[in-house]
This record gives sequence, structure tokens and C-alpha cells, in this order.
Amino acid sequence: MERSRTTDQAIRITNVTKRFNGCLAVDDVSLIVQRGEIMGLLGPNGAGKSTLTNMVCGLLTPDEGTISILGYDVFRERNKAKLLLGAVPQDIVLYPYMTVIENIKFFGVMNGFVGAALEERIDEMIAYMGLDEDALNRNTVHLSGGMRRRVNIACGILHDPEIVLLDEPTAGLDPQNRFELWKLIRGMNEEGKTVVLTTHMMDEAQELCDRVAIMDKGKIVALDTPKALIDFIDVQAAVRVVLQEPMPEHAAIFELTDGVQGVVQEVDPETHELRFKVLVGDANEALPGIVSATMNAGVRVKSIEIIEPTLADVFLKMTGRSILEAEMETEEAALAEEAV
Ligand SMILES: Nc1ncnc2c1ncn2[C@@H]1O[C@H](COP(=O)(O)OP(=O)(O)O)[C@@H](O)[C@H]1O
Ligand SMILES: [Mg+2]
Repeated sequence: MERSRTTDQAIRITNVTKRFNGCLAVDDVSLIVQRGEIMGLLGPNGAGKSTLTNMVCGLLTPDEGTISILGYDVFRERNKAKLLLGAVPQDIVLYPYMTVIENIKFFGVMNGFVGAALEERIDEMIAYMGLDEDALNRNTVHLSGGMRRRVNIACGILHDPEIVLLDEPTAGLDPQNRFELWKLIRGMNEEGKTVVLTTHMMDEAQELCDRVAIMDKGKIVALDTPKALIDFIDVQAAVRVVLQEPMPEHAAIFELTDGVQGVVQEVDPETHELRFKVLVGDANEALPGIVSATMNAGVRVKSIEIIEPTLADVFLKMTGRSILEAEMETEEAALAEEAV
């Protein structure tokens, strides 16, 4: 039977399970990535993101279940699936004592480029990486983390695959480099590539992804657009106000302000100072009113902060613990294992 090559399903994961010794790393996961979208796999360290993505790119075999890339089975039609998918693993795989150009050339040859086509592809990748002459001729061991990431991505997409899988592409990067990489990823997607990226950073998933699958303990616990996920949990936006000399009766200042739906008095866990969480419908709209109410009342503000619900709140709601707690659990489990 001829399988459809015009499917809208870039990646189809059906009931996939993977165990390591006793550990259930991926637990009966099903997921469809649509062509043209940026899909985020978001979850704490140890959630099973790398295990899942490594199975999608054929590096690991599932114990159960099937995976197809644009209709081609990742294992039974390996060669076809491989051409359609470019994978950039979590750990950088470059030859440290070869220059950027030599690395690119090497990956080009490995992918069957020769002669003029190879030169052309090298030029394209140089433009794509945005590195200067000096960096291009440096051994990759001497590059900054951000530059190395770019070269790694260039090597992964050198064969111009339609689907790109990036495992923690911005891990270890400073904010500037992270932002640059987001631009690169968005650019790829605008060119028509389907992008799947894993991340344990909530803001990254929220900012970059059309849809997000939240993973925890090997399972997908939620899947939707960031906005729909946040709307679903129904956590209210709020403005947190810290006053210079706070008194409980200051709550009244906010209660009478336009757009305010309630005021919660809290104690700062670090300073033990009284502070106010002003519940609102739209934090940006309510903020000016809250600021002027404090001025009119003649009280001095120490700090004021918008606390919009985020995907971190979604994770908390879905799993009953924060992403940080989840990562600490994983670390503790790993240490306990080592101790045995
Ligand atoms: N090669 C392996 N051998 C044994 N256990 C593994 C291996 N790879 C991953 N695991 C375990 O599987 C779970 C999921 O890991 P991983 O897929 O790397 O998570 P993530 O990428 O979300 O941090 C973890 O508990 C991890 O310790
Ligand atoms: Mg990982």
C-alpha cells in the first residue's frame, strides 16, 4: 500500500513506551505534531523529553508503539524518514578541534553533498549561522556557547529537512543568546519548517511555541496553545504591591480602585513584610489605576509587579507541584539510585 505523502501530520507518535531497567521513561505517549507548527515539549528534567525525541529521530527504539514522520515509519522506512527530519541533540556533537567551516563541510559530505552543491550549501549555512570570518575559522572548542549552538543547529539542518527537532536548544545560554536563537527558530518556522523543541523553561515555551505538550513522569499531562492552557486553569491575574510602611487598612486603597476584583494580604516569605496581591481581570489595564490610587492615598510604594498566570501555574495545577520541586525530586531519586 502506498502511504500518503501529503499528510498534514508531521510527526505521529502512537502509544509509545520506553523503559530503562525498571524506570518508565516514556509512558504510553501519543502525540500528533501538525505540519508547519512550532510544538514545544515542556517539562522538568527527567520528564522523558529527550527519551521521546530520541525515539522520534530513531536513535532509540520504543518498547511499544509506533512513530511516523510525514507518513513514513521511523524504523521500517528509516531512510525516507531520516531525510525529512533534522535532529539537534541536547549535547553538542561537533568536532572540537576542527574549525566551524571544517565541521560544516564534514556534515555536508556525510549528507551526500559534493562539488558545487557542497560549496553552495556551505555558503548558505554560513549566512544562516551569522558568524564572522574569525569565528568561522576557529576550532569549535574555542567558541562561545551561543556560537557552538548555532553551528550544531546548522549541522543538524544541513540536509534541509522539513521537520526540525531541537532538544533543549537554549540550555546554558545567556538571555541575549537565547533571544537570538529564538529568532533563528522562528525564522526556520517562517521558511515553512515544522519545529519541535524541548525545554524546561516555561517562558520559552510560552513565547515561542504554537502548541505546548506538558510532560511529567513520562506522560503528556496537557496539550494545547499556551493561551488555552493558561485560560483552562483559571488562575487570576494579579498585581503585587509592596508598600514602604504597610498597614492592613491599606487594603482599602485597592479595593476601591477600578478593575480590581479583590485584595489578598500576604506575608513576604523572605522579608516577612505585609504585602498586597490585588486580583484583577487584566493586569496591564488595572496597573495605572492601582498606581494612582496609592499616590492619592499618600502612601509610598516600594515595588509593584504584575503577576500574570503562566505555564508554570499550568504545570503546578496539573501535577500538584512546581517545576522546581519536580526537578528536585528527580535529582533526589538519582542520588538515591547512586547510593544503592
Ligand atoms: N540511557 C538511560 N539509561 C537509564 N535511564 C535513563 C536513560 N536515559 C534516560 N533515563 C531516565 O529516563 C528518565 C527520562 O529522562 P530524559 O528523557 O533524559 O528526561 P528529560 O529529557 O525530560 O530531562 C529519567 O528518569 C532518566 O534518568
Ligand atoms: Mg533532556
